[in-house]
Amino acid sequence: MPEARLKFLMESFLIKGGVPLHGEVTISGSKNAALPIMAAALLTGEPCIIRGVPDLSDTRFMAQILESLGATVKFERGTLTVRAQKVRGYADYELVRKMRGSICIMGPLLGRLKKARVSLPGGCIIGARPINLHLKGFEALGAKITIEGGYVSAAARQLTGVPMFLGGRAGSTVLGTANVMMAATLAEGVTVIESAACEPEVVDLANFLNAMGAKISGAGSPTITITGVKKLHGAKHEVIPDRIEAATYAIAAAATNGEVTLKGARAEHLRAVIDKLNESGVAVERRGANLLVHRKGQLKSADVTTLPYSGFPTDVQAQMMSLFALAPGISIITERIFESRFMHVSELARLGADIEIEGPSAIVKGGRPLSGAPVMASDLRASAALVIAGLAAKGATQVNRIYHLDRGYESMDAKLRKLGARIERVEEK
Ligand code: EPU
Repeated sequence: MPEARLKFLMESFLIKGGVPLHGEVTISGSKNAALPIMAAALLTGEPCIIRGVPDLSDTRFMAQILESLGATVKFERGTLTVRAQKVRGYADYELVRKMRGSICIMGPLLGRLKKARVSLPGGCIIGARPINLHLKGFEALGAKITIEGGYVSAAARQLTGVPMFLGGRAGSTVLGTANVMMAATLAEGVTVIESAACEPEVVDLANFLNAMGAKISGAGSPTITITGVKKLHGAKHEVIPDRIEAATYAIAAAATNGEVTLKGARAEHLRAVIDKLNESGVAVERRGANLLVHRKGQLKSADVTTLPYSGFPTDVQAQMMSLFALAPGISIITERIFESRFMHVSELARLGADIEIEGPSAIVKGGRPLSGAPVMASDLRASAALVIAGLAAKGATQVNRIYHLDRGYESMDAKLRKLGARIERVEEK
């Protein structure tokens, strides 16, 4: 694996704001679909070919983790070939700590080897991020769970399918559903996951697993049924377009009063976002296989609550806040998935936004002009919100610590430049 992009140089985006975005942007493959699909390749010794994998630091980390487990990985122009002829069931802290999403190797390892030992991923800036529901699912399949020395181990003589309820305090769990679904593909008998996550990324994973010979039905609904099979084989798959990236560029187009075509974005994955954009005075129109985004007039305030799919995604909450900062009137954003996902509020305030936090809600008094300033990215989506605000603000904005953005947005600076934005990647001083 080339490590060229695995650098953690402190880089910034320097943005000269006030330019409406115009043109076409191609939406990359979905990060959050690609990560568990890459992990699923551990379920077979045969080669898996995964197309449309975005070139991100997160997908490169996942490739490194697969290699550390014994797989061979080739990543060329968006196509990833994984062959996990032999795998070991042990993942190191140094690799896992870098990316919370790496927990999704646990299900495939448990399914294939009947044992897995993975470093506990820990919390992150957006909240506590427990894995109790993943473990509850593994236990229900018959695994014994132990936590020791910062590692979580799961082991079973055999996995047995059962009905289980996987809902938690905030509703369903995306990676928990993915993990249990992957382990259950090689269990004896039938597993039924109730309160399963309905996200399109879970459906994409189920489609890949079925292409590998799994028997999964109901993905995309709250009840997923998995009939265990003896063995899985290699498969080819194309990852779905990234609905969060699409939403981010749609909001950037609206915030700068531009007109942007999102190439390959799927309206059916973006209903809640499109609905809120419409309510805020933004048109999103189908143009063949693409979506065209432009304002219908002045921006309007609105209220948003984040919810599991098909509700408004938490991963678009920060970007929507930047748009609401520009919309005259009061908008209320309520975050129901993660308890501390408002790190962007104080940084948006540095650009002139008027936002107050009241418990799980942010009250945005929109319509004040934004002006450029140096700001600090704190997590992936917060960083995207700062870039959007910087594009709409008057003057220069420097977004520092953009390694967060490189985790989840493929070539964001190049894509924005193609839309006419004045944005440069510079070394942080
Ligand atoms: N939760 C539990 N117990 C668990 C698992 C989750 O209580 O065992 C809670 C979480 O604390 C949270 C809620 O359930 O309150 C939902 O978390 P979920 O498990 O669905 O999140 P995740 O699977 O860890 C994925 C995405 C996140 C995205 C969330 C929610 C990946 C790699 N990550 O995380 O993406 O925010 O679903 O949609 O798929 C991002 O891309 O920026 C990102 C953070």
